[in-house]
Amino acid sequence: MKVDGKPYRTIWLSDDGTTVQVIDQTLLPHRFVVRDWRTMEEAEHGIRAMIVRGAPLIGAAAAYGMALAMATDTSDAMLTKAYTTLMASRPTAVNLRWALDDLHERLAPLPPAQRRDAAYRRAAEIADEDAEICRRIGENGLGLIRQLKPRQGERLNALTHCNAGWLATVDWGTALAPIYQAHNAGIPIHVWVDETRPRNQGASLTAWELAKHGVPHTVIADNAGGHLMQHGQVDFCIVGTDRTTRRGDVCNKIGTYLKALAAHDNGVPFYVGLPYPTIDWTLEDGRDIPIEERSAAEVSRIAGRGPTGEVVTVDILPEGSPAANPAFDVTPARLVTALVTERGVCPASEAGLLSLYPERARAA
Ligand code: MRU
Repeated sequence: MKVDGKPYRTIWLSDDGTTVQVIDQTLLPHRFVVRDWRTMEEAEHGIRAMIVRGAPLIGAAAAYGMALAMATDTSDAMLTKAYTTLMASRPTAVNLRWALDDLHERLAPLPPAQRRDAAYRRAAEIADEDAEICRRIGENGLGLIRQLKPRQGERLNALTHCNAGWLATVDWGTALAPIYQAHNAGIPIHVWVDETRPRNQGASLTAWELAKHGVPHTVIADNAGGHLMQHGQVDFCIVGTDRTTRRGDVCNKIGTYLKALAAHDNGVPFYVGLPYPTIDWTLEDGRDIPIEERSAAEVSRIAGRGPTGEVVTVDILPEGSPAANPAFDVTPARLVTALVTERGVCPASEAGLLSLYPERARAA
C-alpha cells in the first residue's frame, strides 16, 4: 500500500541484503519511522514491544528474525536459540509458531554453510506469500460485500475492531483487504473503526491506513458498536484473527467477542478474514488458546499528541488502582457468519474449514 504516494510493505530486506527494515507501529499515527533490525535480538524485541504486530506480520517478522540469527551464526545451537527466543516473544498469534516451525524444519537438515541464504530466501517467500494471500482474501471478501445492500442511505457501513489492515500483515491486510478492494472497485463504503483500547490499534493504525488510502471512516469508542447496530447503521462487521481453531472459534483482539454478540443480536453479518497460517489445526476449543496478558500500564496510561506536537503519555487511573490487561478474547464459531480465506469463504466450523482445506482432514 502507499504512504504519501510511495509503495510500502510493513517489512522488507534492505539493499545490503542482511538488514531487515520495518515500519515502527508504536509511533503511528504521529510519526512515520522505519527501523533497522541487524540482529535476531532486535527482531525479538520488535515483536515483543509491538514495533511490528498483527498475526501475519508477526509470522513474517519471526522468519526474518531466524534469518538474522543465521547471518551471524549458522550453528545448531543458534538455530535452537533463535527458535526458542523468538517463539517466546508473543503467545497468542499462531502465525509465529507456524513460521518458526517452517524455518526450523527447512534449516535443521541443511549443512550450516547453506543456512543463511536458505533462511533469507524462505523469509522473503513467506512475506511475498502473505501479500498474495491477503490480496486473495480481499477478492473473496469483495464477493461477499457485493451481495450486501445498505440498510440506510447509499453506502455500505462496515465495522472493524483493532487493526487487521496492511499494517497487521505484509500488505493489503486481512479484514481490511475486502474493504480496500470494494473501495477500489468504486463501491461506496464507510468504516466504523473501534478505537480498541487499551493500545488503540483502531484509532492509531486502522484510521491512519484507511485515511492514507482515502477510505471514508469514523473512529468510535469501543462501546458504541452495539448502539450503531441497533440503529441500522452497520451493514456488516469484519475482523481479523490471531488464531482460529479447527472448529472455527476465533481468537482476536479483546472486545471482538462483544461485537460479535451485538452483531448476532441485531442480525448483522459477522465476517472474519484470515490466511491459512492463522488456523490452528491442533486445537478445537477456542478456550484452549493461550491469551496474552499484557502490562497493566497499557490500561492505566494513554499516549497522544500534545498541543505542541510532541507525543506524551499520561496516567488515567487513580493512584494505586490495579489494572488487568487480557489482550485477546475468543468468539465462538456460532457467532461467526463466515470465514474469508485465500481459498474462499466458508462457514465457521470444522466441516467448513475442511471444505477449503481437505488436506487437513484426519485419517479415518
Ligand atoms: O496485539 P496485536 O495488535 O498484535 O493484535 C493483532 C490484531 O491487530 C488483531 O487482533 C487482528 O485483528 C488480528 S491480526 C490480522
